[in-house]
Amino acid sequence: MARIIRVAGPLVEADGMRGNRMHEVVKVGDQGLIGEIIRLRADVASIQVYEETSGLKPNEPVAGTGRPLSVELGPGVLKSIYDGIQRPLDLIKKKAGDYLTKGVTVPAIDKDKKWDFSPKVKVGEKLVAGDIVGTIPETKVITNKVMVPPGMQGTVESIEEGKFRVEDTVCVLNDHGKKYNIASMQVWPVRRPRPFKEKLECNIPLISGQRVFDAFFPLAKGGTAAIPGPFGSGKTVSQHQLAKWVDAEVIIYVGCGERGNEMTEVLEEFPHLFDPKNNLPLMERTSLIANTSNMPVAAREASVYTGITLAEYYRDMGYNTALMADSTSRWAEAMREISGRLEEMPGEEGYPAYLASRLAEFYERSGRVICLGKDGRMSSSSIIGAVSPPGGDFSEPVTQNTLRVTQVFWALDAKLADRRHFPSINWLTSYSLYTDSLNDWFRKNVAEEYPSMRVEAMTILQKESELEEIVQLVGPDALPARERVVLDVARMLREDFLQQNAFNEIDTYCSPKKQYKMLKTILSFYAKAMVAVDKGMEPEEISKVSVIDNIAKMKYVAEDKFEEEYSTMLKKIDAELKG
Ligand SMILES: Nc1ncnc2c1ncn2[C@@H]1O[C@H](COP(=O)(O)OP(=O)(O)OP(=O)(O)O)[C@@H](O)[C@H]1O
Ligand SMILES: [Mg+2]
Repeated sequence: MARIIRVAGPLVEADGMRGNRMHEVVKVGDQGLIGEIIRLRADVASIQVYEETSGLKPNEPVAGTGRPLSVELGPGVLKSIYDGIQRPLDLIKKKAGDYLTKGVTVPAIDKDKKWDFSPKVKVGEKLVAGDIVGTIPETKVITNKVMVPPGMQGTVESIEEGKFRVEDTVCVLNDHGKKYNIASMQVWPVRRPRPFKEKLECNIPLISGQRVFDAFFPLAKGGTAAIPGPFGSGKTVSQHQLAKWVDAEVIIYVGCGERGNEMTEVLEEFPHLFDPKNNLPLMERTSLIANTSNMPVAAREASVYTGITLAEYYRDMGYNTALMADSTSRWAEAMREISGRLEEMPGEEGYPAYLASRLAEFYERSGRVICLGKDGRMSSSSIIGAVSPPGGDFSEPVTQNTLRVTQVFWALDAKLADRRHFPSINWLTSYSLYTDSLNDWFRKNVAEEYPSMRVEAMTILQKESELEEIVQLVGPDALPARERVVLDVARMLREDFLQQNAFNEIDTYCSPKKQYKMLKTILSFYAKAMVAVDKGMEPEEISKVSVIDNIAKMKYVAEDKFEEEYSTMLKKIDAELKG
């Protein structure tokens, strides 16, 4: 009989576990706390426990369940708020009071609710894994596609229509005599990536409506980005802006809060966020995973796997999904704590040696794919991870190992945040490795010249930083006229283009077309001003032209009025910068 031999915080050791398997879920102690086997040596298992272990004692029983840590995938996942192992927070609260009581089992999705199922296949049709057998209106904006689960196939023997519970059979497949009952719910182990047919190149941007991201350091659909930033630099605001605005249909938000109130904020704010695209609650297309600071670290360790599995599920239906994790440093710290309890050989700064491979495995679950199924539908799952390096030092292991695997680096900068330059993304150190793959898309869908404009704008900012030292020594007035224009235009790029106020009704979102025209205006100003100084116009005069006011306010001009303002500005530039 399996028994506890040692309890060390979230980690429990038990013997008599010879028949059990790695990653099997076990019930620990008299209260039946939920745990997972994370190491097996002979008959001793190390178990990370997803609930508070205080009071647990040696000799209490441990029982295997025979299944790996899994999530339930079906209608009802959206609009839910879960803990790290997919327990709905409101249900555990209801059942256990305000504090999560131990051993409480609650269903991840409602097993009694009946959903409207519309069939999409007929008796006699041959189906393979991934084929869509029917649809369910899961929320006001997302249609759930009921799919043949991986590993199943066959000829449709029966197909239903009407109201069904998630576990009810809606379709029976017959594969040479072997029958498969298909329900709208699937169960999937969180640590195993869900299969797809093929990975595709990430060559379509995930548009966020945030200028510094889209225009300078674009993320691709199915891509990965890291947002490292020191305390208070804007990680959470950035993640919320992305959740609200990226052109992904389904959002999975994993909050790993350390500070007590940080997660409470998310829990309070998120259900009240409105989807700007349709004025419905953002939760209609979101699932939220919340680790509050009073939850055990092991649940935090599991939460990112729970999150990515939910994202993959909607990806498999054909949706573009985006997962935001805020902050992955808290996840890494959970790994470190558990590794320490396991007395593993510590690596850099006490993190386990496998930190790098865990981070890589997680981000590798992103991608733009052709889904399973015969229809060849394409979709994507993008991952954006915030990182909070202690003291803002990007050389620490979590930031470094994240940057090794993510393709986009949005570096938040404390100095910029102090100057109230938001989003405080450092334009000199950030990068996107997708720009080359995305240039074609921007050429076709925004403007042929857009990619070269990005290069020009970044060159001006680069030049500004090179001039900075001289300016500090001798002041800007001592510079040659052309370089003074560079400084003026660089300031425009920073203040009038890159700075974007998340809390301004108009500026909170900026379409790629408006981004292009804003940038075009500034670069037209630059070109004309250069010609003007060459012809003898004084830099002082240039810095007094009235179009500069228009440029300073253009971000607050609504999209539908922007075309008019754009042509006004271009005309003014022509008229005022003649030299
Ligand atoms: N895009 C933005 N527009 C306007 N203000 C912003 C923007 N980004 C950040 N801020 C300001 O900076 C403050 C701190 O941002 P935020 O909470 O996102 O930082 P953080 O990096 O998540 O901090 P922590 O390390 O505490 O989690 C916000 O409350 C807000 O006032
Ligand atoms: Mg934060």
